[in-house]
Amino acid sequence: MILDADFYYNMLSKDDQEHAQRVTNLSLKIALALGLGGELYYLKRAAKYHDLGKLKITSDILNKSGPLTEAERKEMMIHAKYSGEMLCEVKEDLRVIEIAMLHHENYDGSGYPFRLKGNEIALESRIIRVADVYDALRSERSYKKEFPVDVCKKIMIKEKNHFDPVILKALLNIE
Ligand SMILES: [Fe+2]
Repeated sequence: MILDADFYYNMLSKDDQEHAQRVTNLSLKIALALGLGGELYYLKRAAKYHDLGKLKITSDILNKSGPLTEAERKEMMIHAKYSGEMLCEVKEDLRVIEIAMLHHENYDGSGYPFRLKGNEIALESRIIRVADVYDALRSERSYKKEFPVDVCKKIMIKEKNHFDPVILKALLNIE
C-alpha cells in the first residue's frame, strides 16, 4: 500500500477532519484578502494536514474535559512535530512539512515547537495559526463551549501578540 497524507487524514476523527476543512477554507480566505494568489497550493495542503500529529497523542489527553496537567500539555505540544514527521514519512512536499510543523509558533516567540518569532515563521504558518485559533474558539471542544463571533474576536485581540498583526486584521475584517 502506498501511504500518502490522505491515508492519515482519513484516520482523524470526524471533528478533526471538519476542523481541518474549516481552517483550510478560512486560511484561503485570509490569503486572498492579503492579495496572495500564487502559491496557495502549499497553504491548502498544510492547512488540511496540520493536525495529523494528533493521531499519535493519546485520546485521554485529546478528549480530556478539564485542564491539562503540565506533563499532558507537554505531550500535546509534540503533535506539531509529529505532523511534520508524518508528512515527511509520506514524502509530502518540504514546504508543506515546514508550514504544518510551525502552525503553533506564535508571532511573539511564545509558541512551539521551536519558539520562532515574526518572519522566522513561514507566512502560511502564520495564516494557519490565526485561522486555527479562531476556529477552535468558535467550536465546541471537550473542554469548552463554542463562543460567539464577538467573544472570539475579543479573545484574539487580547492575545494579539501571538499573531501577525496584518493577518489578524484580515481575519477581523473577514469574520
Ligand atoms: Fe494543532
